[in-house]
Amino acid sequence: MANLGEKIDPKSSGDRIAKGRPLERDDTVSDRQSKRHCIRDDDVVYQPKTKETRDAYEAMIGLIQQHLGGLPLNIKLLKPIPEEMNQVFDQLVSFGKLITDFGVAVEFEEDEEESDSDIAQDEELQETGGIQVDAGEGTSLNVQDIDAYWLQRETVIEREENLLKSLYEAARRLKDITVADTDFKSGWFKGQRQMLDLESLAFDQGGFLMANETCVLPPGFYRSRCEGYDELNVPWVSKKVDINEKLVKIGEMPAWAQPAFKGMRQLNSVQSKVYETALFKEDNILLCAPTDAGKTNVAMLTILQQIGFNKKGDGTYNHGNYKIVYVTPMKALVTEVVSNLSYRLKDYGVTVKELSGDQSLSGKEIEEAQIIVTTPEKWDIITRKSSDTQLVSLVIIDEIHLLHDNRGPVLESIVARTLRQIETTKENIRLVGLSATLPNYEDVALFLRVDLKKGLFKFDRSYRPVPLSQQYIGISVQEPLQKFQMMNDLCYKKVLAGAGKHQVLIFVHSRKETAKTAKLIVETAMANDTVSRFLKEDSASREVLQSQIELIKNGDLKKLLPYGFAIHHAGLTRGDREIVEALFGEGHVQVLVSTETLAWSVNLHAHTVIIKGTEVYNPEKGGWMELTPLDVMQMLGHAGRPQYDQYGEGIIITSYSKVQFYLSLMNEQLPIESQFILKLADQLNAEIALGTVQNAREACHWLGYTYLYYRMVRNPTLYGLAPDVLAKDVVLEGRRADLIHSAATILDKNNLVKYDRKSGCFQVTDLGRIASYNCVSHGTIVTYNELLKPTMGDIDLYHLLSLSEEFKYVTVGPDEKMELAKLLDRVTVPIKETLEEPSAKINVLLQAYISHLKLESLSLTSDMVFIGQNAGRLVRALYEIVLKRGWVQLAEKALKMIIGTLFLVLSTSISSDLI
Ligand SMILES: Nc1ncnc2c1ncn2[C@@H]1O[C@H](COP(=O)(O)OP(=O)(O)OP(=O)(O)O)[C@@H](O)[C@H]1O
Ligand SMILES: [Mg+2]
Repeated sequence: MANLGEKIDPKSSGDRIAKGRPLERDDTVSDRQSKRHCIRDDDVVYQPKTKETRDAYEAMIGLIQQHLGGLPLNIKLLKPIPEEMNQVFDQLVSFGKLITDFGVAVEFEEDEEESDSDIAQDEELQETGGIQVDAGEGTSLNVQDIDAYWLQRETVIEREENLLKSLYEAARRLKDITVADTDFKSGWFKGQRQMLDLESLAFDQGGFLMANETCVLPPGFYRSRCEGYDELNVPWVSKKVDINEKLVKIGEMPAWAQPAFKGMRQLNSVQSKVYETALFKEDNILLCAPTDAGKTNVAMLTILQQIGFNKKGDGTYNHGNYKIVYVTPMKALVTEVVSNLSYRLKDYGVTVKELSGDQSLSGKEIEEAQIIVTTPEKWDIITRKSSDTQLVSLVIIDEIHLLHDNRGPVLESIVARTLRQIETTKENIRLVGLSATLPNYEDVALFLRVDLKKGLFKFDRSYRPVPLSQQYIGISVQEPLQKFQMMNDLCYKKVLAGAGKHQVLIFVHSRKETAKTAKLIVETAMANDTVSRFLKEDSASREVLQSQIELIKNGDLKKLLPYGFAIHHAGLTRGDREIVEALFGEGHVQVLVSTETLAWSVNLHAHTVIIKGTEVYNPEKGGWMELTPLDVMQMLGHAGRPQYDQYGEGIIITSYSKVQFYLSLMNEQLPIESQFILKLADQLNAEIALGTVQNAREACHWLGYTYLYYRMVRNPTLYGLAPDVLAKDVVLEGRRADLIHSAATILDKNNLVKYDRKSGCFQVTDLGRIASYNCVSHGTIVTYNELLKPTMGDIDLYHLLSLSEEFKYVTVGPDEKMELAKLLDRVTVPIKETLEEPSAKINVLLQAYISHLKLESLSLTSDMVFIGQNAGRLVRALYEIVLKRGWVQLAEKALKMIIGTLFLVLSTSISSDLI
């Protein structure tokens, strides 16, 4: 980076600092000597066991003695190495490969636990792989030592003590061992590459994959069986109190950093522990901590460090030299982060810009901003078009546990791209990951190139500011109506338990459900004569609520308020929502029934949070799906009022079969897996189009940067590999090559990329570029490419659009046909197919979206918004293909469609869009 030399150490502001390359160190002999994972002279007891290995061993010893026998110890190889030495080396390697019975005598010096952490440290530091050889201070370089070292490095048959070791090993080795160039001379990667069925390798369950077969029950757990349901309880654990803990006072921070913490007295426990590393070191960081632990402040510290680097002698800042990217998964969070950072950093003159949803930034706006707050998808699109993000010196990824979700591949791809950029430009970009508590944090840390000793900070649930008691209600009744009834009854029971004592927040999963649930509870309470328990006759809140009713627009809300009940969703007017938020915040509303919008955009807490049902309509999958883990964690994050409650209460009412999933999720037992295979072909296409991957070798290397790689090493069988695969291929060279070969073959077959199977070279085509820049799947591009004809009219174009792969899960429900039939009469471009066809539904809904038609059904509305949001990119891709073919008339028609979708993007009032 151009400004490297000018960067200033924030601690000793004014001093010049040298910003080094990441995770590298000189690979000197003394470095190797210092490694603890060594084989001592007296430990090496290799004995050949077969005639073949004995012959190879003796030949190798002979060769070594011939060349090194009488040389002094401290020899240094001077460059250039004579040609004949290369041959000798090759011979030694060949001999080494013949010795296959080595390893049994290798013993680790330290006990398991200690050696783990040391490997961790070594992992990022060593340039060469394998167990290190201790040549012994001042003793001659032992022949046996060389054997052992080379054998470990070249033959890589290591007896792994546990999986973690293999992971570190793989991470370390990956840095050096890539597919050898020589393999490319004789055709890419010697031997036949296997064609894998990528679709069948991807996880069907997506984000609901539960790789842990069992869930270890947390301490204090108890269960009650009731008629039709089970109740599982996890009691709250007290907050961790460490009387010796030293919290960092804001006043102790460097003076220039303090304005960003205005209004705060000190950093909390989590923040104080990360403080030194975040503000003064340059290590990458992974911070895993519970909801509300204050992770944003840690992000703030790393941001301040970058600002500090650019502090000038006169106390002003040079903001032209750096950029910070803050990636957060929901649009609502993006908006919140933008306003938070803009407010807190205003004294520094920093410009913070939002880049999410429909918003785009002009080149000038990007240029002027120092901090870009964006969603993973948006940042993916930006970096697909240009790798020119050279000024970026810090990338913060919030909620990185999203890796486990269907949207995870995008995160993997942006991190891998960043790592490739670091590698090619040799300029460091600091990576900071923030996540909820999760069991396999080491994997995520390694993926982010975090030094496990220096940059990994992990805090368990006892660090939650308000402890959480958890209750999981698993309904075993199958019959839908009965189940629905039971859910309502249970909800009433739970709400009543808190009546008059504390507030309750209930999350439901559609706007209509809010009023329906609230009314049902009130009616049941009236029938049971319990309604006065929520709001006492003489309560002051009664008057306050009464005084607000006049101002309320929504009819349901007007009726509910007198009982101390309210609803909240994005369909209410802003005024209504604000009144509800204020009344609940001040403690007047006792029970608030809300959609997930509140969870993501409003900072309200209640003692008890109930998630009533965990299924939500998912248009992408065309049906009712479980809530995403991200949503569940976010909703439960509202349980417990900081500073008021000793603990909060989270209740999840769900199906019996889902209880283990949520129990695992909330108790650090759900391993975060990779969903990358699902999107491998498209992501590979994006890299090829960008030019960062030009051949299969580079692609294999790129794949080594993904989270998929670390998870495959850690849990090979889950990813379709043999359990002992690592014994033969510690860096999964073969598997990565097969994956790349398979993805490249798909892309080649569909004409997105030209893939030369012999040389392994890739060449992007126009179609590949169009697919990448518009983030359109290869399946869709193929359909367009096949079916586009120069003579097509509007009807055909809309039909073609409806065949996009992005809409493949859209189905026609029996209850939707009536409403669709009505809509059919109102759309401007006629539709040829019958309503039995999903493409007819897609077509109708797209036109309904463009014309701003209001729909009755929830599922249809969700489908319509989903289709409308995707249409922009798809039409643009379609237009570009037509343009490339030179079909002027068709291009004009497509352009009109773009204008239509653009118009709707600019003027749309429908915004259930959270991303
Ligand atoms: N040192 C502090 N002093 C006072 N308030 C703080 C401090 N640190 C954090 N907070 C407050 O705690 C709340 C939670 O912080 P934050 O949003 O950073 O949590 P989080 O760990 O990111 O949670 P989530 O997992 O929900 O994203 C915020 O309202 C924040 O202002
Ligand atoms: Mg946060």
